[in-house]
Amino acid sequence: MKFLIFAASHRKESYNRRLAKLAAAHMKSQGARVDFAEYAEFDLPVYNDEIAVSGGVPEAALCFAERAAKCDGIILASPEYNWSYPGSLKNIIDWTSRVKPNRLAGKTALLMSATTGGRGGITGLAHLKTPLEAISFFVFPRVFPLPHADTAFDGKGALADAQKQQLFTGLLNGYTDFTRKLV
Ligand SMILES: Cc1cc2nc3c(=O)[nH]c(=O)nc-3n(C[C@H](O)[C@H](O)[C@H](O)COP(=O)(O)O)c2cc1C
Repeated sequence: MKFLIFAASHRKESYNRRLAKLAAAHMKSQGARVDFAEYAEFDLPVYNDEIAVSGGVPEAALCFAERAAKCDGIILASPEYNWSYPGSLKNIIDWTSRVKPNRLAGKTALLMSATTGGRGGITGLAHLKTPLEAISFFVFPRVFPLPHADTAFDGKGALADAQKQQLFTGLLNGYTDFTRKLV
């Protein structure tokens, strides 16, 4: 199994990157291969159909589609912005939807979110599911919202709460089984 893993944040101290790194470490420990991407690798102009028609899909979107196509699934840690997910992430999905043929149909996706707020980005994750399904991902029905992310990690980058850490690894293992069944 191989997974593309990234956080939808450019912030140097991003909590979502920490969560994505934690997921990557666990998946590797279970024998999976991981392609860890930095969000900046998928920086794109705001979607413009004139650019799409005249100049084609930008390199960064082709790169995202290619890297995801080489994997069985993607694991995405996204911040919540104003009760939804970042516009830059929707922009990546919109550009990716213009890459033909769609080699991502039938891939799986696991969604997680670390926020400094108290609800862990649960609303943003519910929103994010929809456009991923529109481009034919099978989105794992369970998600991982991490509230109060500024105090949730220990000094080594793991989750400070042992019960939460157990939930996290259980979720990743469940997602791996789901992917094995589907792809
Ligand atoms: C534009 C903006 C909107 C935000 N909206 C929310 C929100 O709706 N819910 C929430 O829990 N946190 C919200 N936050 C706080 C983020 O959870 C916090 O900045 C978090 O650290 C972002 O993730 P990152 O550390 O991976 O960059 C918002 C932050 C920004 C910059």
